Amino acid sequence: MHDIIRQLDEKRAAARLGGGQKRIDAQHAKGKLTARERIELLLDPDSFEEWDMFKEHRCTDFGMEKQTVPGDGVVTGYGTINGRLVFIFSQDFTVFGGALSEAHAEKICKVMDHAMKAGAPVIGLNDSGGARIQEGVASLGGYADVFQRNVLASGVVPQISMIMGPCAGGAVYSPAMTDFIFMVKDSSYMFVTGPEVVKTVTHEEVTAEELGGAVTHNTKSGVADLAFENDVEALMMLRRLVSFLPSNNRDKPPVVPTEDPSERIEMSLDTLVPDNPNKPYDIKELIVKTVDEGDFFELQPDYAKNIVIGFGRMAGQTVGIVANQPLVLAGCLDIKSSIKGARFVRFCDAFNIPVVTFVDVPGFMPGTAQEYGGIIKHGAKLLYAYAECTVPKVTVITRKAYGGAYDVMSSKHLRGDVNFAWPSAEIAVMGPKGAVEIIFREEKGDPAKLAAREQEYKEKFANPFVAGHRGFIDDVIMPHETRKRICRSLAMLKEKKLENPWRKHGNIPL
Ligand code: HXC
Repeated sequence: MHDIIRQLDEKRAAARLGGGQKRIDAQHAKGKLTARERIELLLDPDSFEEWDMFKEHRCTDFGMEKQTVPGDGVVTGYGTINGRLVFIFSQDFTVFGGALSEAHAEKICKVMDHAMKAGAPVIGLNDSGGARIQEGVASLGGYADVFQRNVLASGVVPQISMIMGPCAGGAVYSPAMTDFIFMVKDSSYMFVTGPEVVKTVTHEEVTAEELGGAVTHNTKSGVADLAFENDVEALMMLRRLVSFLPSNNRDKPPVVPTEDPSERIEMSLDTLVPDNPNKPYDIKELIVKTVDEGDFFELQPDYAKNIVIGFGRMAGQTVGIVANQPLVLAGCLDIKSSIKGARFVRFCDAFNIPVVTFVDVPGFMPGTAQEYGGIIKHGAKLLYAYAECTVPKVTVITRKAYGGAYDVMSSKHLRGDVNFAWPSAEIAVMGPKGAVEIIFREEKGDPAKLAAREQEYKEKFANPFVAGHRGFIDDVIMPHETRKRICRSLAMLKEKKLENPWRKHGNIPL
């Protein structure tokens, strides 16, 4: 018996050492933690249950039968974050560069299958050279098995990817199908083909960091949701993200008790919107002053900044916040912001998270760049997302709500449950200047007349009352009572039930 126990200890020690001390040191020298250190930091202390520690690859080509490492380059299992169950896989770069073999993929698939049965999130810590070259098509098959599970799990359990090293080739498509991608600056990158192939094919000279580093994907491509300075910060923020999310699509998000009174008044909001309608202001001030304890978890803060998205809590309950940002492009909706907003609204809808929308939008962005880029199709994504969304929807129009963008931004017509407007709201087909130049074109040569028309238009339409007369907004509220009114609305909507007609799936304009 003693011998067997000793053997077990030795086997465990070998597995824990992964690719060996030299490679562990090399990993540390790059400022990266090992697969196990990452799990330890991410999960609650002593909560990790490891599976398949002794699993090995079955490859016999290229002398691989002599190179086996227990665990085969990925640490898998389950544990808890703030006491809540999560499933996890963490690729071990010290073993064949974290490359994915058939056995490695089987380990990942096993935790994904269990996550689906148990109804708990799947977290992937990615640090891998991609498909295990020695295994050929077997490893490609392994990837496809993971992809298939990513798709079946989509909208059923939250899936979160943390990119903490290389992620290249087809391997990028597994994270791409998960709900959130976090990256670590200077040590992680994602691309379909690396700098060398790019140079050969397109003659562009680009570094790995420029092509697919954390900054690139958080500012240019919008592939990632957040970028962090190092592994530790990234893992702590992942814990924070999980605290906002339900465990699965049948669950409600956890309620976090708060000292912040839901009836809190915020007088400073009464002067947030400038008198001059063309002057910008920061919509994040409204968000931070509205949510519990000013705690706003923003996603994609450096991409399509004309729309702001993220999680907060109202009276302890998670809400998804979508807000036009007048500071950037006057808050116009363009291709990138429409896609950013749409994907977020769909996540909230899939996971029972109410959506609070703050509207200050002068319309869709005009111009050839947008039209040629397909603003019609991409703008429609946001419209589609709001229209199909059945979770509670509370909307506050702070200033402009013009044209199609008024309809899109969670309007009453798209089954907005409670739609408020501040007294400064202007709800109309377009802004006063543009409007009079069209409908009084014949008076264009007479600036005095045109100014009078503009004034007339402003008095008639640049206010919330026309929409109020029709019941398109439920009330005109004072800015200082915004939190109170939203909290009451969400409490009223707590048991909201709304179902869309049965269908295999809709056909969102992709
Ligand atoms: C097998 C691999 C490997 C791989 C790395 N290694 N990638 N082994 N299959 N794909 C091994 C290396 O041989 C090395 O072993 C160890 O991992 C560390 O790699 P290094 O090159 O020393 O590390 P580094 O300099 O940091 O470079 C990391 C890297 C590079 C950029 C990831 O290794 C690399 O370019 N690898 C190949 C990447 C690739 O082309 N993968 C296929 C992508 S296509 P030793 O024993 O020396 O420590 C793909 C298709 C998926 O993935 C399709 C899904 C549908």
